Amino acid sequence: MRISVVKETAEFEKRVALTPDLVKRLCDAGHEVTVEKNAGADAGFLDDVYKSAGAKIGKSFADTAKGASVVLKVGPLEDKQVAALSENTVVIAIQKPYGSKAFFEKIAAQNATAFALEFVPRITRAQSMDVLSSQSNLAGYRAVVEGAFEFDRALPLMMTAAGTVTAARILVMGAGVAGLQAIATARRLGAIVSAFDVRAAAKEQVESLGATFVEVDYHETGEGTGGYAKEMSEGYKKAQAEKLLEVLKTQDIVITTALIPGKPAPILITEDMVADMKVGSVIVDLAIESGGNCALSKTGVSVTDNGVKIVAYPNMASRIAYNASQLYSKNVFNFLSLLIDKDSQDLKIDFNDEIIKSSCLCNEGKLLHSVFES
Ligand code: NAI
Repeated sequence: MRISVVKETAEFEKRVALTPDLVKRLCDAGHEVTVEKNAGADAGFLDDVYKSAGAKIGKSFADTAKGASVVLKVGPLEDKQVAALSENTVVIAIQKPYGSKAFFEKIAAQNATAFALEFVPRITRAQSMDVLSSQSNLAGYRAVVEGAFEFDRALPLMMTAAGTVTAARILVMGAGVAGLQAIATARRLGAIVSAFDVRAAAKEQVESLGATFVEVDYHETGEGTGGYAKEMSEGYKKAQAEKLLEVLKTQDIVITTALIPGKPAPILITEDMVADMKVGSVIVDLAIESGGNCALSKTGVSVTDNGVKIVAYPNMASRIAYNASQLYSKNVFNFLSLLIDKDSQDLKIDFNDEIIKSSCLCNEGKLLHSVFES
């Protein structure tokens, strides 16, 4: 069957959906793989390496996607690309379907099938397909590196003949996948790390990484459905803000990762709190794509009047594009394997499978996902 890997066109996107090693595995299994010209170049995977792996190089999107049984992508297709899809093509990507019903109606009208990898359920069988985890993990690591780069001082304690350099204090807000990796990275770099989260389960995980858990003096659990956080009450938010005002003054780098599925990110750092922070301190806002956790976050790097740097790069995983592409590719490969019959190597999609059902946005001309109901 023909499998196509197309080039990403979105701003800030440097990743590629399939790396050459996995192209080779598909070619070895008898598939014909076409990779759009320069699809992997920004992530460090050049066309010649794809060719050596057995791929053909497509001249354009249309040339690559035409007649394909499967199109692999990192982000959603562009509106103008949909018309070039062939009937029954399966598109696998992080589809970001919220607010894009009309776009997926077009894909359905084209009789193509779309799978959103971000909706793969977080069950044990699907762990190897979990793009949210693989990409958040790298984003959490990179957030600390970006923070350290913008911070004009050292992170570890250094005792030298010329004097002592004190260790930096790093606070991580939100201890999910990205936050826990940020804690681990900051600890490895020698910082004194603390963290908090609204989910009670996070405390033990934070402490097991050697960081201090910041307690908010208000009794409310933040556990929502599926292990995700819920939006907190006004009472909790007030208590949290009071605690943060006190803690933020003492921090050198703050990494924010707090998200609530399907909602704007909660504002955890207000303008007043930033005004009270130390000169030279750095905030890295990983939630910028969902509006940001800091009220002052603007895309890129900005500096406030009191000398606080705010770093807010959308798509942080793309800033470590080589590794992010490697892990994303493995997720895609594992998901694709679920759609392929082992003997015939043709598509054989079991729409009753929990993983497939949860991630399918449209098939046979119809929108199928609850995300389009609201
Ligand atoms: P996420 O990216 O949706 O959110 C990041 C973090 O922000 C979460 O820990 C959340 O509790 C926290 N948060 C939300 N509002 C906050 C607030 N107001 N103040 C402070 N923190 C706030 O979460 P992520 O990283 O996707 O993880 C969600 C859950 O999924 C976790 O329980 C995690 O352990 C679980 N998980 C399960 C996997 C599995 O295979 N079973 C794989 C990966 C994650």
